[in-house]
Amino acid sequence: MKIYSVYNIKGGVGKTTTAVNLAYMSAASGARTMIWDLDPQGGTSYYLCVKPKVKGGAKGLIQQKSQFENLLKMTGYPNLDLLPADISYRNMDHYLEKESRPTNGLHRILQPLKNSYDNVFLDCPPGLTTITENVFKISDVLLVPLIPTPLSLRAYNRLVQFLVKRRTKKLQVVPFFNMVNINKPIHRIVTKNVHQKHPIFLRSSIPESTIIEAMGIKRSPIFTYARESAEATAFQDLWKEVSQREKGHKRKKKAL
Ligand SMILES: Nc1ncnc2c1ncn2[C@@H]1O[C@H](COP(=O)(O)OP(=O)(O)OP(=O)(O)O)[C@@H](O)[C@H]1O
Ligand SMILES: [Mg+2]
Repeated sequence: MKIYSVYNIKGGVGKTTTAVNLAYMSAASGARTMIWDLDPQGGTSYYLCVKPKVKGGAKGLIQQKSQFENLLKMTGYPNLDLLPADISYRNMDHYLEKESRPTNGLHRILQPLKNSYDNVFLDCPPGLTTITENVFKISDVLLVPLIPTPLSLRAYNRLVQFLVKRRTKKLQVVPFFNMVNINKPIHRIVTKNVHQKHPIFLRSSIPESTIIEAMGIKRSPIFTYARESAEATAFQDLWKEVSQREKGHKRKKKAL
């Protein structure tokens, strides 16, 4: 089971949009895929038309009084299951902190599922809290969408410094740009220069587009209503590059 988390300390940068589209592509390729909406806003649950209701709430989940498997919902898309979020998730940090090992809670919950799914996507809330510390510990890949501005890069640098201190060795950090508008000089400058200083950034990026924004009205992944669009291709290219980078990462690890 591979865990991909979509995270940024900042809000409104496209975490949910990315998580939903990548999870859809993973499932469509035949991989057994689960997406866990970790955000009390419930954006993923909304996009996938699943009721934001979790029996027993965050407390039941963290204290493992509720069986994770029983809370999973089918999305209607083959191979794609969802664990929705409801408003009780606002207290998830509180319940994690009550545990004897607060940063191990998500690991404990997901461990029994390790043979049930090939790919798990975590749609993370913004901020840097106990949930996110859990996410850093259990993820294989941390996808970080950023809007191309100097302030976003500054926040990204802070995140990297934090992760270096935490020595999250296993974690592969994969930043990329979302909502790119080449008509904005600042976007052009930042996207053009980023690879000199940060070669780790993906070459693929996602444009700012009303077709992508329309997910909020269609309540479905972009591939269901604009399969042939340049925007759908952008997500496909992004997913391809993430997969290629992982293969490279595996080869490097083997060679060590
Ligand atoms: N490439 C894009 N082009 C246009 N609009 C986009 C794009 N990506 C995301 N959006 C829009 O921006 C808004 C925020 O996106 P999204 O909910 O994915 O961000 P988020 O990082 O998950 O936000 P939050 O931190 O609140 O969870 C949504 O209205 C979404 O439709
Ligand atoms: Mg979100």
